[in-house]
Amino acid sequence: RVLIVDFGSQVTQLIARRVRESGVYCEIHPFDKVGDDFLKAYAPKAVILSGGPASAHEEDSPTPNPTLFKLGVPVLGICYGEMAICAAMGGTVEGGHHREFGRADIRIATETPLLAGLGDVGDLEPVWMSHGDVITAIPEGFHVVATSENSPYAAIADEGRRIYGVQFHPEVAHTPRGALLLRNFTHTIAGLSGDWTMAAFRAEAVARIREQVGEGRVICGLSGGVDSSVAAVLIHEAIGDQLTCVFVDTGLLRMNEAEQVVTLFRDHYNIPLIHVDASKEFLGELEGVSEPEAKRKIIGRVFVETFDREAAKIEGAGFLAQGTLYPDVIESVSARGGPSVVIKSHHNVGGLPEHMKLKLVEPLRELFKDEVRALGVELGLPPAFVGRHPFPGPGLAIRIPGEITREKVATLQQADAIYLDEIRKAGLYDSIWQAFAVLLPVKTVGVMGDARTYEDVLALRAVTSTDGMTADFFEFPWPVLARTATRIINEVKGVNRVVYDVTSKPPGTIEWE
Ligand code: XMP
Repeated sequence: RVLIVDFGSQVTQLIARRVRESGVYCEIHPFDKVGDDFLKAYAPKAVILSGGPASAHEEDSPTPNPTLFKLGVPVLGICYGEMAICAAMGGTVEGGHHREFGRADIRIATETPLLAGLGDVGDLEPVWMSHGDVITAIPEGFHVVATSENSPYAAIADEGRRIYGVQFHPEVAHTPRGALLLRNFTHTIAGLSGDWTMAAFRAEAVARIREQVGEGRVICGLSGGVDSSVAAVLIHEAIGDQLTCVFVDTGLLRMNEAEQVVTLFRDHYNIPLIHVDASKEFLGELEGVSEPEAKRKIIGRVFVETFDREAAKIEGAGFLAQGTLYPDVIESVSARGGPSVVIKSHHNVGGLPEHMKLKLVEPLRELFKDEVRALGVELGLPPAFVGRHPFPGPGLAIRIPGEITREKVATLQQADAIYLDEIRKAGLYDSIWQAFAVLLPVKTVGVMGDARTYEDVLALRAVTSTDGMTADFFEFPWPVLARTATRIINEVKGVNRVVYDVTSKPPGTIEWE
């Protein structure tokens, strides 16, 4: 396995994803947690040093553990990582020369396995640069393998010790053949075979779950979302009926979603499932509440209470399954810093009730979202199911600004189903990160037939995103929106106007509340 040492780049996770896409398992660890004991236990087969915001020429800049260079395994430094190698091994780095940001061309200077397939000596290759410091002298034993207009040391190598550095970012999509470079590093230089597949992961995960759980009983909170579903199917494969799923139906799910979950798990997979219809409690507690944070808090609390009550009925339960993913686990250097403002208090299904003293089973904690989807398909979940857009824990409650009623939920469910149906028919579903309707607490005047109407406004939202942190509104072909609007107004009682939200994030958020 490969070790990625994080120096705080915003795109460190992309390095991990590219490496894994080449079939090589890797993990990200912060530079200051990579001590000698850690290295001994982890025993990496290759090391990648990430980029980062610091300047390697400054006194207190983060430095890689020198042991990394004595392990005898290949090392690749990216951007700050390259400068850190230089600074650590006897080269020099200076600040404030020519800053280089964005697209650049590198010229290949010498043949090297690192750049095999990217071009011949003398060829230009487009890459993505982002740095302010430059290397002015490289350590002994290194030579230049590529240059760029502003970097005489755009790529350097010590082929004997198998230590490499690149000033640019091979992990980003803007470096078109960056994935090949990383593959050259892991496959050719480090000699790794690329046998980390979802089939292999499945077999390993099943063995690990069996070992952890033994004869114990596991409870899994199902939300209808991809993560908890994949976790449940995987755990069921490992321990069969020692698993019981609890599905708390808030009454705030999309149309027919509750039935689909129950059918899929109970009938198709034969997984013991407790379906708790708690819509009365949720809608009851939400009555008269319109402040967004208050809604979120109520839903979070009622959820835990309900889940708790049902879970307590399962005798002898010792474990709680959670669909925690790798991005939640990575301790990222870039996310350190002062306390951040709470924009929304997130509620996720399956939170651990403190007093229950259950041990956690988190079989997906090493996976990225795309890998969870691939594992879902590997486990036989329908591709349309694993490819579904994200859905927030508080459900439709945060898509109905103002007070929530059962009628409003039903109206929104119908409109949302039509919208998604039109998106699917237009073949656009997979190009969109998330699409949903929002029922506004606003009435406007319209005319239908010869009569005046005074009814609700419905907003449509669709965004593209890679991680939900930033998002752009989706540019629909107008006819798709027009068809959706016509159908919603014709088919959904109480709605006479449809608008489209063209706000990006930031400054908007994806959900309206
Ligand atoms: P915002 O609205 O903050 O949403 O831009 C970013 C992403 O998070 C989802 N979201 C949630 N997911 N529990 C969740 O599991 C929540 O409470 C929650 N609130 C928002 C949202 O749908 C989007 O994908």
